[in-house]
Amino acid sequence: MIALGCDHGGFELMQEVKKHLEERGLEYRDFGTDSAKSCDYPVYAKAVAEAVQKGECEKGILICGTGIGISITANKFKGIRCALCHDCFSAEATRLHNDANILAMGGRVIGPGHALKVVDTFLDTPFSGEERHKRRISMIEN
Ligand code: RB5
Repeated sequence: MIALGCDHGGFELMQEVKKHLEERGLEYRDFGTDSAKSCDYPVYAKAVAEAVQKGECEKGILICGTGIGISITANKFKGIRCALCHDCFSAEATRLHNDANILAMGGRVIGPGHALKVVDTFLDTPFSGEERHKRRISMIEN
C-alpha cells in the first residue's frame, strides 16, 4: 500500500501519479488534498508520514510545488526517510543507499513524463541491504 499526499502545488501531478499506479495495479491510500484550492502542505505530509511510520503503508509519495516543504515536514517524523528526487539516478540511489520510504517531488519542477519514471524507479528499486548503508541509516536516528 502506497500513501499519497499533496498540496495544491502538487495536485495536478498527483492525478497523473494516481492514474499511473492504477495502470500498474498498485494499491494506494490517498490522504489528499482533493482539489487545486490553496491549502497547507504540512497537513498532508504529516498524514502520509504517520501512515508510513505506523506501517499502515510501506511507502509514500508526497508532492507540493517544489517538493521542499513537504519533504522537510515528513523528515521530522522518526523512522521517515523522505527523499526529494527529480531524476532517476537519485531515486535509485536513495532506495539502494538510504532505504528511503517516502519520495517527494515538486509539481512545479518536473513534468509528468519524467516524474512517472522517477516514481517507477523509486518503487521498483530494493534497498541494497549492505552493511555500510545499514550502519549509516542507523546513525541517522541514534
Ligand atoms: C505553495 O505555494 C508552495 O509554497 C508549496 O507547494 C511548496 O512548494 C512548499 O515548499
